[in-house]
Amino acid sequence: MTQDELKALVGQAALQYVVPGEIVGVGTGSTVNKFIDALAAMKDKIPGAVSSSNASTERLRALGIQVFDANEVGELSVYIDGADEIDRRGYMVKGGGAALTREKIVAAQSKRFVCIADESKLVDTLGKFPLPVEVIPMATKRITALFAAKGGTAKLRMKDNAPLVTDNGQHILDVTGLAIGDPLAFESEVNQWPGVVTVGVFAHQKAAVCLLGTAAGVKTLE
Ligand code: A5P
Repeated sequence: MTQDELKALVGQAALQYVVPGEIVGVGTGSTVNKFIDALAAMKDKIPGAVSSSNASTERLRALGIQVFDANEVGELSVYIDGADEIDRRGYMVKGGGAALTREKIVAAQSKRFVCIADESKLVDTLGKFPLPVEVIPMATKRITALFAAKGGTAKLRMKDNAPLVTDNGQHILDVTGLAIGDPLAFESEVNQWPGVVTVGVFAHQKAAVCLLGTAAGVKTLE
């Protein structure tokens, strides 16, 4: 099976976690796009979704799924999103698509995070995928130095020859050279650095369930 087919498989499998009659939290990325496409078949059974990015909002609306502002609704029962890396404890690295801040907000607003990913995303230790960190631009230099002190190399994410600007008007640093053995402590520490908007380690908002697309079918890790 191709990676695209594995993504479609888990996108479809995630429908079983959508609660009829309730608003669902929706993440961002190519795997979530498969989930959104599958969700269209259930659109008459749910009031709509809370979205984690402008890209997902557009896709949801194009399929006739209503999108609610996070402030208009209460706690969500489930949030469905992909990951760039996930370990067996459910800790993740996210933000490859630059949507990490809103993803963390919607994840925090949800009781249960269901991660959908193809098997290439499963790792023993987080850190091989360059860690995305959304930052306030004036703090970039100092945050780069703080990561260097941890053995990491931070690079400003670019798009069309200019720094990429997130949905929130900020920049992204991608940090290589880190091995994140204690994701909870790491996330807490980096969160304290002035100018960090969101660190792409999702440990406090970890996945409760991971639907992993494998050649043998969908594996559920809980
Ligand atoms: C978006 O910012 C990310 O957190 C995505 O959830 C993550 O990059 C996974 O994306 P893919 O499903 O495209 O691999």
